[in-house]
Parts: sequence; C-alpha cells; structure tokens
Amino acid sequence: MKSVLALCILLTISMVAQSQQQAANRPTTVAGFPVNYSEDSVGTYTLPDLLKCTDGQPVTSAKIWTQKRRPELVGLFEEIQFGKMPPAPKELKFNVFDKGTSAFNGKAIRKQVTVYLAKDTSDHKMNLVIYIPAAAKKPVPLLMNISFAAYNQTIEDTGLLVNNIWNREGIRVKADKPSAFGKTNVEQFLDAGFGFATVYYGDIEPDFKDGIRHGIRKEYLKPGQTETAANEWGAIAAWGWGLSRAMDYFEKDKQIDSKRVALQGASRLGKTVLWAGAHDTRYAMVIASISGEGGAALSRRNYGETIQHISDPSRYLYQFAPNYHSYADKINTMPIDGHMLVALIAPRPLLLQTGSTDYWSDPKGEFLSAVAAAPVYKLFNETGPETTVMPAAGDTSLLMNNLGYYMHEGGHSVLPGDWTHIISYMKKYL
Ligand code: GCU
Repeated sequence: MKSVLALCILLTISMVAQSQQQAANRPTTVAGFPVNYSEDSVGTYTLPDLLKCTDGQPVTSAKIWTQKRRPELVGLFEEIQFGKMPPAPKELKFNVFDKGTSAFNGKAIRKQVTVYLAKDTSDHKMNLVIYIPAAAKKPVPLLMNISFAAYNQTIEDTGLLVNNIWNREGIRVKADKPSAFGKTNVEQFLDAGFGFATVYYGDIEPDFKDGIRHGIRKEYLKPGQTETAANEWGAIAAWGWGLSRAMDYFEKDKQIDSKRVALQGASRLGKTVLWAGAHDTRYAMVIASISGEGGAALSRRNYGETIQHISDPSRYLYQFAPNYHSYADKINTMPIDGHMLVALIAPRPLLLQTGSTDYWSDPKGEFLSAVAAAPVYKLFNETGPETTVMPAAGDTSLLMNNLGYYMHEGGHSVLPGDWTHIISYMKKYL
C-alpha cells in the first residue's frame, strides 16, 4: 500500500515537473505578439452563425445547407483564408511507371505514378505510391496521406523511386537520407483491407516563403504578376489542389474505389486536408491530425497560436491567401471561423485528432469547433459531439461519431495508437 502511494506521489511529481517543463518551453511571444495559455484569458467571443445565410435566411434543412449556405461559405474561405485555386489543368497526365509490383511479402501490389501537374516536360510533377491489398477482388477503399517527407524515406520497401525534396536552404536535393519524420506502417492498412497512398507535399509546392518561385503556383501567375493577388491561393491551397489531382488519378484506376478514399495529413497538412476535403467533395472522408490554427481550431479563441501569429509575413502568410492577414487584428469581424471549415466536410465523416500537450494548436479550440459544427451534421441525421464537456486525454468516447474527436495523451504528433483509432474509424465509416 505504502509503495503504491509512494509511486503515485512520484508519478504526480514527475507529471507536474513535466508540465512545468512544457510550460517553461512555451514561448510567451511569437512574431512579437503575446501567446496566451491561460483559460482565464481566452476572452469572450461570438462565433459567426453557421446556420444563417448571408441574406439572413435561416438554414433549416440539409437542402438549404447544401444548395445555399455551403457554397457561400466555400466562397468566403476561398476569398479570405486559403485563396482561389485554378481548375484541373488540361495538360494533366499520368505515368504509371510501376504498374504493380509485389510488396510486403506478397501482401500488397505496389504502384508508382507520376502525375504531371503542368506540361510533362516541366518540373511540376508529383509522385504517388499506392499499395493495394494483394487479396482484393474488387476496387479497394484507401487512405491517401500527404507527407512532409518523400515516400522512399518513410516506407521500408525496396524498389521505391528516390524522390527529390527541398532542403532547409530551399534547394532541391535527392531524398537519399532518412528523414526526421519516422516510418509509416503501411501493413496495418493492408491488414485491415485498405489500400494506402502517399505523396510528398513539396512535389506540389515547396514550404517556404518564396516557394511560389518554384512551385505549381508559379505556373498560374499572370504575365507581369510576381505575387498572388489578395484572394489567390497560398501554399495550403496549392497542396490541396495537388490532392485533387491525386483524386483525378484514383478515378481512373480500376483497382481503387475512388468513392471511398479518406484523406489524412498532420499539422499544416491537417489544415490542408480540411481545405482539400471541403473543396473537393470527391474525398469521402477526412482525418485532420493536429490541424490547429487555420485548421479546425477556433480562431476567435485567444489560446496558443492565433491569426496574428500564423499570418504574420515573417511566419506563414505564404500558406494562405494574403487577405487572411487583414483579419489579424480584427478577428471578431471575420465572417468565418474553424467551426465552419469543419462543417464544410458534412455529412461526410471527419475525424479530428489532437494532442493534450499540444497547447500551441489548442486542442480545446478544436473540440469547441466540433461542438459548434455538430448542428450541421445533425441536419443530415449524422452524429457529432453531443456534449460541451471536453473528453480527457485518451478518452475515446467521441472518436466514433461521424464528426469524431479524439485527443491523445501527448503533443504535436500522430502516435502509433492514433493510427489504430484511425483504422477503426475508417472501418466504421468508409
Ligand atoms: C507551426 C505553425 C502551425 C503548424 C505547425 C506545423 O507550428 O505555427 O500552425 O500547424 O507549424 O505544421 O507543424
């Protein structure tokens, strides 16, 4: 008994020490703006009304939502936050250069495809790897991931194309060294009967301030234009646009059930999959990991990162439409917020995965966003969180809703246990 008590005390001390340590590591100002981590100082706010059209008409049915309010909101997100993107290019071409090689000891058939995003002689090509369960007798549903690393760095499989990646200096180099992003366990998807596909985001647009000089957005600058206009696409929209081009390929591949593809990404790529899924409804499911500010988290809640931080030109303005920055100091006048981005996925299944010590991304702001978006799911008779009490770390009680929420114990990451939950979620809803 005594030793159990001692252990409890020790654990408590170490947890307190850990959280003090984490608190100490949190910057108090970013880009010159204070960062709030106290629930007492989040301020009061009123969210813009999801269920009222711009002309005042209340949204009382799924039909009004789909035909009127939803397109209105997509337009606002384009104009203000992510920027307008071009339609699919006429030149789009696919080269299936690996037509089906046995992989993972015969468990999978692997394909590799180059998607030419512009002319096939240009630099703008995106390489996809796709694994299909070898035992599949009909088109398979799959998880499409967008990644910070080249697939040959994250997947243990010989015969993968060694891609190019952008290094810290903004130069394209061979991805012939391991990456800091760890390995992907592809077999867990195959074992569950799902395919798995992934793409390196830098194939579409590099992730740095001057990325537009090299990425796909460059192709769309008008003669004489050197920067995007205030309502034109930032890097996130460009990555999302690339994901739509991946879907263009899936629709042509008879081994893939393109009507059952889940899109997953983490962090800035969590924001990306939310916007890509909102814009391109061909994606049947979205799994947004730790998407935070500019993703699922409520911007009006002053906690962790805010629009002031994220849209500062010294930080991530290049990821958004330049217009986004104009709301940095007047967030309460912005006609959109995170709950609306979440609601744009409805009635399709959406899982928000967060981390309990990922304070910068505000996991509570994501929960409140899901709560506020739930009425839209309800219009379609789909479930969202029906509580205003946030689940504790590790609590899976809200995971399996059509609009699901789950917070792991830990920080800004997708942990092995999260993948297990994601697969269960896919099994239920895909
Ligand atoms: C920064 C940024 C976040 C983003 C994250 C990431 O922390 O401020 O908004 O989500 O990078 O992409 O890892």
